[in-house]
Amino acid sequence: MNFQYTEEQLMVRDTARAFAKEVLAPKATERDEKELFPWEELKQLGKMGFCGIQIPEEYGGAGMDTIAYSLMIEEISRGDASVGVILSVTNTLAGYPILKFGTEEQKQKYLPKLASGEWLGGFMLTEPQAGSDAGAQKTFAEDKGDHFVVNGTKNFITTGANGDVFIVTCVTDPSKGSKGTSSLIIEKNFPGFIVGKKEKKMGIRASDCAQIVFDNCIVPKENLLGKMGEGFKIALSVLDSGRIGIASQALGIGVAAMEAAKEYGLQRYQFGQPITNFQAIRFKFADMMMKLDAGRLLTHRAAWLKDQGLPYSVEAAMAKLYTSQICVEIANEGVQIHGGAGYMKDYSAERHLRDSKVCEIYEGTSEIQRFILANSLLGRN
Ligand code: CAA
Repeated sequence: MNFQYTEEQLMVRDTARAFAKEVLAPKATERDEKELFPWEELKQLGKMGFCGIQIPEEYGGAGMDTIAYSLMIEEISRGDASVGVILSVTNTLAGYPILKFGTEEQKQKYLPKLASGEWLGGFMLTEPQAGSDAGAQKTFAEDKGDHFVVNGTKNFITTGANGDVFIVTCVTDPSKGSKGTSSLIIEKNFPGFIVGKKEKKMGIRASDCAQIVFDNCIVPKENLLGKMGEGFKIALSVLDSGRIGIASQALGIGVAAMEAAKEYGLQRYQFGQPITNFQAIRFKFADMMMKLDAGRLLTHRAAWLKDQGLPYSVEAAMAKLYTSQICVEIANEGVQIHGGAGYMKDYSAERHLRDSKVCEIYEGTSEIQRFILANSLLGRN
């Protein structure tokens, strides 16, 4: 077992850390308050290779491994969790499925655009009646020979309003349940692609989240991803990979919350000394450190397994479940250490707490991660 990062992984971590500190963090609160989509910052991240960090160089990407990806998402999320999720989704939920299941033509057409950040990608699985029960799809893609006609509604789509290309799970044979679903690559410019309600969120407010309506949307047949009937399995395997990204985002939010509390605690005097002198506060920091380290080890193990081509669904679920839970705990303790000041908008602590919560919800709630873990141990009941 080797716990040492490679030179390349460290270079990615340090570059992302510097960008997060110097470029992202100073305006993260303003973007959150005004719900400003980080267009300019994403343009720079595209140039740095962070929009397609695992896409091979032959398709314009940086060709790095999943541990480098995880380190990058953690550091970027430390500066701004909204940018973290946009990058996680475009890298793992859009670029990765095209790389894994796409035809050579699909790779040539979409990967260079995603890798450069010229296009942002998204993923559409959730529907009004299909949340945790993701198999209950209704969006119907009617096979018309050389094209599909898609009708339906997708909910809570990250980068839905601002993204360019999406991996969309659709029903193609309603008689076969989840085995009658297929995955389509749908561009926002296809006729019948309509951006519906733009959501107002509790946290990660600089990332957009929208409802998408397909109204007789015309999708060319060559945009079928993988085989007919494989849509649900593609979606679930893509989510395994996505969960490593969300676990990394949760780590970044947790580190940001801990660092903010440290900075405040060291200069906040009560009873004639910094509050970090008191054991009640010191022990909180000890627990934060340990939890973040344990979460990072779980996340990097899942990333390593993925890079070896070994099964990693359970390990990714475990990493996402644990890191999202500790991220909320740490962000909550961060507000507590700030006391009254932590409840106010003058400090970033409250933003970290608001940002943390979604990590326990998207890409499978904590209850769904526990369902996956329990099934792997006990079998399906
Ligand atoms: N990879 C590949 N195939 C898989 C798989 C995986 N990880 N997990 C299961 N499968 C296969 C099964 O083997 C099964 O195949 P067979 O029928 O051939 O045996 C098939 O898929 C169906 O599996 P299940 O019977 O287990 O499916 P289910 O209907 O019981 O659902 C679930 C399982 C785990 C609950 C799944 O529905 C799930 O993960 N739900 C959560 C959905 C989710 O994460 N949504 C997130 C939305 S995206 C998002 O949040 C993005 C964002 O904004 C940031």
